[in-house]
Amino acid sequence: MPENSKSLSPSIKELLATPDREQKICLDAWVRTRRDSKNLIFLALSDGSCFNTIQAVINKELGSWNEETLAKVNTGAGVHITGTLVSSPGSGQAVEIQGEGISLYGDAPQESYPLQKKRHSFEFLREIAHLRPRTNTFGAVARVRNAMSFAIHRFFQERGFFYIHTPIITGVDAEGAGQMFRATTLPLENPPRKEGKTDFSRDFFGRPTYLAVTGQLEAEAYALSMGKVYTFGPTFRAENSNTTRHLAEFWMIEPEVAFCDINCNMDLAEEFLKFIISTVLKECSEDMAFFNQWVQKGIIDVLGDVVTKEFARVSYTDAMEELEKAQDSGSASFDFPVQWGSDLQSEHEKFLTETVYKGPVIVTDYPREIKAFYMKQNEDSKTVRAMDVLVPRLGEIIGGSEREADLVKLESRMDELGMHKEDYRWYLDLRKYGSVPHSGFGLGFERLIQYITGMQNIRDVIPFPRTVKSAEF
Ligand code: 4AD
Ligand code: MG
Repeated sequence: MPENSKSLSPSIKELLATPDREQKICLDAWVRTRRDSKNLIFLALSDGSCFNTIQAVINKELGSWNEETLAKVNTGAGVHITGTLVSSPGSGQAVEIQGEGISLYGDAPQESYPLQKKRHSFEFLREIAHLRPRTNTFGAVARVRNAMSFAIHRFFQERGFFYIHTPIITGVDAEGAGQMFRATTLPLENPPRKEGKTDFSRDFFGRPTYLAVTGQLEAEAYALSMGKVYTFGPTFRAENSNTTRHLAEFWMIEPEVAFCDINCNMDLAEEFLKFIISTVLKECSEDMAFFNQWVQKGIIDVLGDVVTKEFARVSYTDAMEELEKAQDSGSASFDFPVQWGSDLQSEHEKFLTETVYKGPVIVTDYPREIKAFYMKQNEDSKTVRAMDVLVPRLGEIIGGSEREADLVKLESRMDELGMHKEDYRWYLDLRKYGSVPHSGFGLGFERLIQYITGMQNIRDVIPFPRTVKSAEF
């Protein structure tokens, strides 16, 4: 073990940025690659602080080196290096470390270390999700995800929103889609029974409970007293969707604003997305340059364009007409029928965003039958004040709406859907006492990361993905 390891040794990010040359430095890092050339060893060192590695050069003929240590300084090893920071004679880096001493924290036996000096497929890396943050791609994703998290809080905090922690265990199916994971301490093998059914009065909470699919309903309670609030936390969906856009556990950002109608909601969503995108472009330029070159060619220009242009806004009905027109003229053919009343399928969303509007588009006023019970009903009694933000490559990244503020209308919709109103007593109180117009939306955090980085599979933008039949780590 290195003796003088200090937690305060500079990071590679700092070293690469410093103008000081010929300074003595020490560094704790991991070896990314090693290249031997005659009496020289070239190490690319990484500590996660930034995308780039720093080169350290060890001249075996200068100084006294421990042969045994040098033999173990290989890809994956954790090392402590001392030396001098000098201008690099080689191309590709401004500075490098002239090594004067090196010691080993822990080696990584090359015969078994899974990360070799070559490109690994994302599928393979998913199987070693605990080691994949050591790769360029996953380090970059983690840094972008971090920058986005912080930017999200900054966006809302700077605009007077309050961060509300909504419960993860809940008693209601807030989306009414029945895709909930049950949270129970009842013995599965032999649950207590009453009148032929499981007796949930004997469960931990004395009632059936689930993992939350959204924090919206609780956020509404706070918006209707605090004005502007947001949640940012994990949500859970027992959706049997094995796609590149679905996780069983994902993070969602949900602002909820009182005295705000659907137009104000759309403005907020658009401003919010543009803020996050431009922040990442500014603050993660090296990571984005990597995605731009290796993951999604040209993504930086595309995003640069997105932040300067207005998002298209179109009603569901008009969007359907666009799709019909395209189908009738033969310029597009879809597997799923284009029929007023049915939900937009990915192929439709793709066509709208990539071919018709060539960028993000906000679709509003969907048929009430395909949307949740809480959305404000339009005068036409066919549509609701929903707004989904769709983007190229991914389709829906935001789902939101103006909420039904009228108690009578809300109750009658819940009756139509056969919902158990007693379970939503508290939610209905929000309409009974001091009800005001209000709106909100939910942004799928991972989908936005996919959109910004160009990563194709949602499993690769969350550290440890949970999907159907997969919850390792
Ligand atoms: O459209 P959703 O279901 O809306 C809600 O949950 C509302 N309560 C939000 C609100 O109005 N406060 O989900 C919102 C977003 C989707 O647009 C999508 O980006 C993401 O959450 N999402 C998922 N992301 C990953 N995996 C899944 N299984 C997802 N389901 C939804
Ligand atoms: Mg949705």
